[in-house]
Amino acid sequence: MIKRLKKIITASMILSITVIGLTGCGKETDKIVLGTSADYPPYEFHKEVNGKDTIVGFDIEIAKEIAKDLGVELEIKDMEFGGLLADLKTNKVDFVIAGMTPDAERAKEVDFSTIYYNAEHGLVINKKDIDKYKDISDLKGKIIGVQKGSIQEDIATEQIEGAQIKALGKVSNLILELKTGKVDAVVVEQPVAGAYVKNNAELYMTDIIFKDEEGGSAVAVKKGNKELLDSINKTIERLIKENKIDEFVLNATESIDNE
Ligand code: ARG
Repeated sequence: MIKRLKKIITASMILSITVIGLTGCGKETDKIVLGTSADYPPYEFHKEVNGKDTIVGFDIEIAKEIAKDLGVELEIKDMEFGGLLADLKTNKVDFVIAGMTPDAERAKEVDFSTIYYNAEHGLVINKKDIDKYKDISDLKGKIIGVQKGSIQEDIATEQIEGAQIKALGKVSNLILELKTGKVDAVVVEQPVAGAYVKNNAELYMTDIIFKDEEGGSAVAVKKGNKELLDSINKTIERLIKENKIDEFVLNATESIDNE
């Protein structure tokens, strides 16, 4: 009897320790909180689903699978991209999926999963400028829009001579600035460029591609949260094996609304 009781107590202790470890903030819960920046279709974006504003995208599908494999519920927090790593460090979120590139600088602050998706960096311009911007050198001295805290900030600075960088918190606002002529071009990952162009008849994605040796997207967790990272890597490995990521990307791309 006592032996059985001991077993039960140990089992429930292990359970609560696991849950505490998951949220990292000591309160018992059966949910995991995702931090993202839902301005990045097809990765993550807002869409009306059954009359309700919903955050969707292939990153969100991956997050759902991670939560499912952990047996917990998923809560999504939509924040500015530039603040996501700080939110992770201060336990406001448990993990980050936001098309985030695991570069060396960030890897000093947080831990990254294996890469789950690769994309190149492209350029969005106004259709009326098609003949003006054919090559990176044509962008010399122009006003280039990039997301604050993104690697595109560095890429544009390093690869466009004399670029006047305008960094904003949300990509959707950068696109507005482009349409109103406040910036000349916007650098984002190519699938994102394609998504915004699909939604805006007056915009155009050029053939220009920016070099990026550290490219790709990975999931971030708080430094040292090995248990969560191991589980995330297992989920990613399964999704890659089942060709699920390609399927998620395709579905998300198709589900982007046309204006
Ligand atoms: N891949 C780029 C980076 O890691 C941009 C990602 C932007 N993501 C977003 N959800 N807005 O810096």
